[in-house]
Amino acid sequence: MNISFKSLVSVLVFVIGISASTSYESIEFLKAKNLTADYCYARSYAEVSFVVQNCTHIVLANFEVPARETLELKLRKNSVVLIEGTIKFAVAHWDGPLMHITGENIQVIGGTNHLIHGQGELYWDGQGGAGGVTKPQRVFSVKAEGGTFKNINIKNCPMFCVSIMGNDLTFSGFNIDNNDGFKNGRGKNTDGMGFSHSNNIVIENSKIVNQDDCVNVICSSNAVIRNVHCWGSHGLTISSGLSKTDRNNDVYNITYEDCSIGGSLVGIHVKTHPAGGHGTVNQVTYRNIEIKDVTKFGVEIQQDYPKGDGNSANNINIYNMNLINVTGSVKGSKAIGVRVSCGSGSCSDWNWSDVKITGSHKKDSCNFHPNGYKC
Ligand SMILES: *[C@@H]1O[C@H](CO)[C@@H](O)[C@H](O)[C@H]1NC(C)=O
Ligand SMILES: *[C@@H]1O[C@H](CO)[C@@H](O)[C@H](O)[C@H]1NC(C)=O
Ligand SMILES: *[C@@H]1O[C@H](CO)[C@@H](O)[C@H](O)[C@H]1NC(C)=O
Ligand SMILES: *[C@@H]1O[C@H](CO)[C@@H](O)[C@H](O)[C@H]1NC(C)=O
Ligand SMILES: *[C@@H]1O[C@H](CO)[C@@H](O)[C@H](O)[C@H]1NC(C)=O
Repeated sequence: MNISFKSLVSVLVFVIGISASTSYESIEFLKAKNLTADYCYARSYAEVSFVVQNCTHIVLANFEVPARETLELKLRKNSVVLIEGTIKFAVAHWDGPLMHITGENIQVIGGTNHLIHGQGELYWDGQGGAGGVTKPQRVFSVKAEGGTFKNINIKNCPMFCVSIMGNDLTFSGFNIDNNDGFKNGRGKNTDGMGFSHSNNIVIENSKIVNQDDCVNVICSSNAVIRNVHCWGSHGLTISSGLSKTDRNNDVYNITYEDCSIGGSLVGIHVKTHPAGGHGTVNQVTYRNIEIKDVTKFGVEIQQDYPKGDGNSANNINIYNMNLINVTGSVKGSKAIGVRVSCGSGSCSDWNWSDVKITGSHKKDSCNFHPNGYKC
């Protein structure tokens, strides 16, 4: 996928726009459809629980989930779920989630025409989770052991879009379109995809247009995020220090590669919270990252989140933080290429090469100096 920033937003609109009138289906979908003639169809919300309990090959086709209900897919082992048509969620001011998928060795595959519509436009009030009406916090929540999730289209998340917990999971071909949330700055905290307490996760070949972190990694290990393209957004993010329990603050062996992010507040964002417990962020690599028109920091690695006041703490150690071939630009009078704010002694062994962010009227701001980069 090689999509320029300019065209990314219009491509998303285009893809969703034409999809309703074509019958093209992806090979993955057709292969899954061919597995058996005996798919059980849920054509209404009322049919879902029976189908999920009694079938392993399931089609969810075009229905509305009643207000204040979670589309609960407690799948049997080895289930295959296909999604067709539009799955919509009637508006209710509650916490959600709108969809919750659990299971072992499961596959969830979207048909070309499908859409999971969170109707965020009917909730957004510019306040996100901080106030205003109560919004369902997550649209697509996954807790699974072994699974693949392919070609999923999600539109207008009231708040978070995809939230993941589990092991050995691949998410491929996600298309998250919160473009409408830019209107009057109403969409907020619409995080794209995030995972926590997870091991061996892949997120790939996806497009995310949103108004908070594009991808966020919390307390997880051995993950790759590749070929993910973000617009709007707050960053390609790693977070730690959210928990008072030390072991819930460890992040290990996470790679972002071949990703782009544009029109966002921050490009690469590693943030640790001074108020949390202890922990380590070890072996994080960002490789081949393109950053465009970022308005705050091209790269920000901060141990003073969320304040950003320079009072950085050393409760989290950040080791082996590698940036390789990270290029692009910031824009606006306040933008800074690189900000590093480490606590006392808590950053070490950072190797950066070919990191170049242009367009800033201000100097980089670093209290720790990575090898291979002149801050
Ligand atoms: C699905 O099955 C049909 C009929 O057997 C076959 O012609 C087609 O090639 C199959 N498609 C895929 C993607 O496996
Ligand atoms: C469907 O599943 C339920 C719960 O597992 C079970 O009680 C019921 O007998 C099943 N029905 C059929 C037709 O298999
Ligand atoms: C890091 O994670 C990747 C998978 O995401 C895995 O292939 C690799 O072996 C891991 N490396 C280490 C040192 O654990
Ligand atoms: C550096 O990253 C860019 C994407 O930003 C990619 O097009 C280019 O091929 C990468 N260069 C190398 C040497 O891998
Ligand atoms: C970082 O670079 C130093 C030399 O500057 C090297 O000794 C070290 O092994 C490198 N670390 C990683 C994780 O690549």
